[in-house]
Amino acid sequence: MKSESQVVVRPARNVRGSVQLPGDKSISHRYAMLAGIAEGTSRLGNYSTGADCASTLGCMRSLGVEWERKDGNTIEVKGRGLELAAPGSALDCGNSGSTMRMLSGIVAGQKFSSEMVGDESLSRRPMERVIKPLTAMGAKITSQAGKPPLRITGGELKAIDYKLPVASAQVKSCLLFAGLFAEGETRIEEPMRTRDHGEVALRAFGVKLERRNSGQGSEARIRGGQRLRGIEASIPGDLSSAAFFLCAAALFPGSQLAIPNLLMNPTRARLLDILMQMGLRISVAQLEEIHGEMVGTLQVEGGTLKGITIAGADSAALIDEIPVLAAIAPYSEQGIEVRDAKELRVKESDRIAAVAANLRLMGAQMEEREDGLRIPGGQTLHGAELDSFGDHRIAMAFAVAALRANGETMIRGAESAAISYPAFFQALEEVTER
Ligand code: S3P
Repeated sequence: MKSESQVVVRPARNVRGSVQLPGDKSISHRYAMLAGIAEGTSRLGNYSTGADCASTLGCMRSLGVEWERKDGNTIEVKGRGLELAAPGSALDCGNSGSTMRMLSGIVAGQKFSSEMVGDESLSRRPMERVIKPLTAMGAKITSQAGKPPLRITGGELKAIDYKLPVASAQVKSCLLFAGLFAEGETRIEEPMRTRDHGEVALRAFGVKLERRNSGQGSEARIRGGQRLRGIEASIPGDLSSAAFFLCAAALFPGSQLAIPNLLMNPTRARLLDILMQMGLRISVAQLEEIHGEMVGTLQVEGGTLKGITIAGADSAALIDEIPVLAAIAPYSEQGIEVRDAKELRVKESDRIAAVAANLRLMGAQMEEREDGLRIPGGQTLHGAELDSFGDHRIAMAFAVAALRANGETMIRGAESAAISYPAFFQALEEVTER
């Protein structure tokens, strides 16, 4: 067990400066996995510093992939090609749902059995969403009533034509990765468009993949047996980590923030439109494309914080950013309503319950619903003793809410921020003015 730490956040007057973010978590996981099954060496610059992405690297090592840390968060991975080695012990995914779900697609294509385990939070999270389609492709999987640990016996897979019942980029990537090992063409359809880093990364590693958008959803087709080749890449800054700084800036009319080298992938950037509608002024410069991913430099200025409704496709597109948007909602003029976000209940914590509990402790009025929250605006909050619920995004969201509260806020379990962003509290401190 890791020791618990607490952080005290004092109210701020303004947010000003520049933040350089660690590499995007979603892209880091996918690059590490694909680099492992590619031919040749990959150099992955600005690899995420988060513990989750370290879990992926640890699992790849257990599967016989050699890699080394170089300077400046660069990871050099020696690809083994599609055949990995049988692990000597269970694959430890730690707190990382992305590791377990996406890597299960790769181990399902291997000629050995492996066990995937996770920490207490991951052991409570639903895995039927990958078990069912991977089983249909021919893998043999046992679980604890749909939850980890998973025991996966891989082998000959056959292609599948599958419509995802829940909007999940992790499941989509899992099945496209499994499709690499399957005989025939795998077709994955998603009813609601989710982040497309799996599709973009597969192409970057030389895989041929067809894609089409249809209505609010999309489909991708991949042929089995394709070989991947290693890449040299620099991973753009994590947009979901940037969300905490953007929301902090949104709290103060006088704030000014620069975020260089930030991921601008359109399937992630809905956050920027929403924040602009909420009154943040955002401009993007030096936009460029690296291995199919858009990257740019953001300049933001605070304004009046307005309210908004997040529902339908937006809830899927903003799933990781809703906790921090909800945490600043009471300070907005009209408040925030979140609907269609039931998936938040099965993240690293029940994020709807966690946000509601912490907001209440800070004195906020709000209504908690099965699939979201309704938080009235124009409220004044006070500092309080809060809990992270062992969830990185809850710890960081409430550090932001604390900046405009009256009095100090103590966040217990603050160490969980390290799951995606170990230097978060220090970086936030550097841009707050008191
Ligand atoms: C992720 C997808 C999302 C998100 C998670 C990362 C990814 O999960 O919440 O933090 O990298 O594909 P779902 O696949 O469950 O929507």
